[in-house]
Amino acid sequence: MTVHNKTIIISNRLPVKITEHNGEYRLRPSEGGLATGLGSVYKRGNNVWIGWPGIEVPEDRQDEVRQKLAEFNLIPVFLTNEEISLYYEGFSNEVLWPIFHYLTTYANFEQTYWDSYKSVNEKFRDTVIQNINDGDTIWVHDYQLLLLPCLVRTERPAVTIGFFQHIPFPSYEILRVIPWREEIISGMLGADLLGFHTFDDVKHFLSAVSMLSSSKQSENIIMHKNRQIVVESFPMGIDYQKFESLTRHEKVAKHTANFKESHQNTKIMLSIDRLDYSKGILQRLQALELLLQMHPEYIDKISLFMIVVPSRDTVPKYKELRDQIDQLVGNINSRFRTLNWVPIHYFYRSFSVEFLSALYSIADICIVTPMRDGMNLVSKEYVASRTKNDGVLILSEMAGASKELNDALIVNPNNIGDVMRAINRAINMPPDEQNTRMTSMRHIVKKFDINLWVKNFMDKLLEVKEIQQSLLTK
Ligand code: G6P
Repeated sequence: MTVHNKTIIISNRLPVKITEHNGEYRLRPSEGGLATGLGSVYKRGNNVWIGWPGIEVPEDRQDEVRQKLAEFNLIPVFLTNEEISLYYEGFSNEVLWPIFHYLTTYANFEQTYWDSYKSVNEKFRDTVIQNINDGDTIWVHDYQLLLLPCLVRTERPAVTIGFFQHIPFPSYEILRVIPWREEIISGMLGADLLGFHTFDDVKHFLSAVSMLSSSKQSENIIMHKNRQIVVESFPMGIDYQKFESLTRHEKVAKHTANFKESHQNTKIMLSIDRLDYSKGILQRLQALELLLQMHPEYIDKISLFMIVVPSRDTVPKYKELRDQIDQLVGNINSRFRTLNWVPIHYFYRSFSVEFLSALYSIADICIVTPMRDGMNLVSKEYVASRTKNDGVLILSEMAGASKELNDALIVNPNNIGDVMRAINRAINMPPDEQNTRMTSMRHIVKKFDINLWVKNFMDKLLEVKEIQQSLLTK
């Protein structure tokens, strides 16, 4: 009997949304970019995706959920409420997230968080081990699973392991504040190929490895425990075709027409983020406030549609941020509003992709000003949706996307005056200049899309493994 090698994708969350209605579990496949891009991998043959289903499922219902997920090639790792609180909210989002986004003072170094992070990574390992053979390939995603590559390697030395980190990798001086930094680095070094969004992330990782492990390095290659590991940047793209063709969708056209009618003489600015302090939401609001104060001629003429998608709202810093946003939006709106106009239309909720596409289509300006961001896909979705080659993107130099989209108006998000001036420039940018900039950005987003990203990573992983094998047989 021939056994076909398979590929396993592993991430903290599975690419589905599970909800419970009157005691019945319902599954909705995720429309996210990663899920779409990796669809070509995990939906094929006997490939699978392993991850947490996103809610707590009581033990006596786990088989039922397992069976439902199996229809979509998905395998669950069930987490208890305690693990969600200590591993996910705790170590992942109260230690790694703030540190990797350079906010060291936001971190909470609880020993129980670390203990749980280790044991949940081991739980993932157990599920992986039950499902793999030596010739298989696994692709681990993101900061919630930094220990998994080494945990799997120890049990199955021959498997091929790729790892991609979707958030920034910080400079060593930032990383070193974590009490468990050595364990983290050696966990990651279980992989054969480590991918990051930008060259800076690669550089920071290599420098951390040189400080925290005894392995040897030459350029982007690490020799660790007799294995050759490659570290490289793979800037992630989006599903360009989907965003471009969505603009022609009937539902989207209807939303767009409605918006246009109700905002005829207004320049529309747009921002879309998950609720997160790394996204620079407060600073962006301050820039808008400054603009209205310095340029009262814009009163009645510009509006910001600000979508904040609820996220991690059980983590204290996120709750705090939500209150601060409510307050600042309230202050600005009450200070500048007129009887028929408000400067900020603020939504704290998620929207359908059709509604977002309509917003991208009507927005004259899209403001993406994170304090730090691994890549930022909203900036690319806006560009892909501008089928008439108009519109202006204001983009933070701290987002990975700024390395590719250098025809955006690039700003330092901490410089409120700079952001304010960029908004002013965007409002007044001549159509010719908009066209030149947008055309060049569209070309990049189209060419380097999510499918090419998946292909480049998988091809490189294969190549790295082949080189390793040829070194072994020499
Ligand atoms: C970022 C991370 C992902 C994470 C997503 C949503 O994009 O890189 O790993 O899944 O945020 O956050 P959540 O905590 O809801 O999974």
